Amino acid sequence: MHNVILIGFMGCGKSTVGVRLSYHLRLPFLDTDKLCEQKMGKTIREAFEQDGESFFRETETEVLRDLADRKETHIVATGGGLPLRDVNRKILKEVGSVFYLRAKPETIFDRVGHDTKRPLLLCEDPMQRIRSLMEERDPLYMKAADHMIDVDGKDFRSIVREIASLNKE
Ligand code: S3P
Repeated sequence: MHNVILIGFMGCGKSTVGVRLSYHLRLPFLDTDKLCEQKMGKTIREAFEQDGESFFRETETEVLRDLADRKETHIVATGGGLPLRDVNRKILKEVGSVFYLRAKPETIFDRVGHDTKRPLLLCEDPMQRIRSLMEERDPLYMKAADHMIDVDGKDFRSIVREIASLNKE
């Protein structure tokens, strides 16, 4: 089982690229956020509000363990905070090739700065929150990744091609 796993900040394009890559490589697509919502029986926003972030983070690790038990190969888009836990980074390395889609804070803000489904960005100054989270997370994304792809200014088709050709090597 050698999955293709996409990591990176909220709004960097993991889900869109993941779906397109799954067509391109003819492999099924999974999204850890969706799997968490199924497992929790509620949306991520509801989980943060009702149970707290740590409940969601536990669920993310469970979902990743379930993935490690699967025999088939998948394209996997992950939630932006998933690679932060040591245990999750370890599992990611074991189950496939990890691609970090890296984007500038400005790109992220344009895409998700006003989103209401992402509890971490529901604050007075989402741009500042993006910058500080990004500073904290970038080194961990780099640590988790086998490959880093700069996505700023690139269209989805070229990102998909870049990943597909790196994945062949
Ligand atoms: C989070 C990112 C979200 C989701 C949750 C927390 C994060 O996923 O898992 O809101 O900590 O960055 P996306 O990266 O798909 O937006």
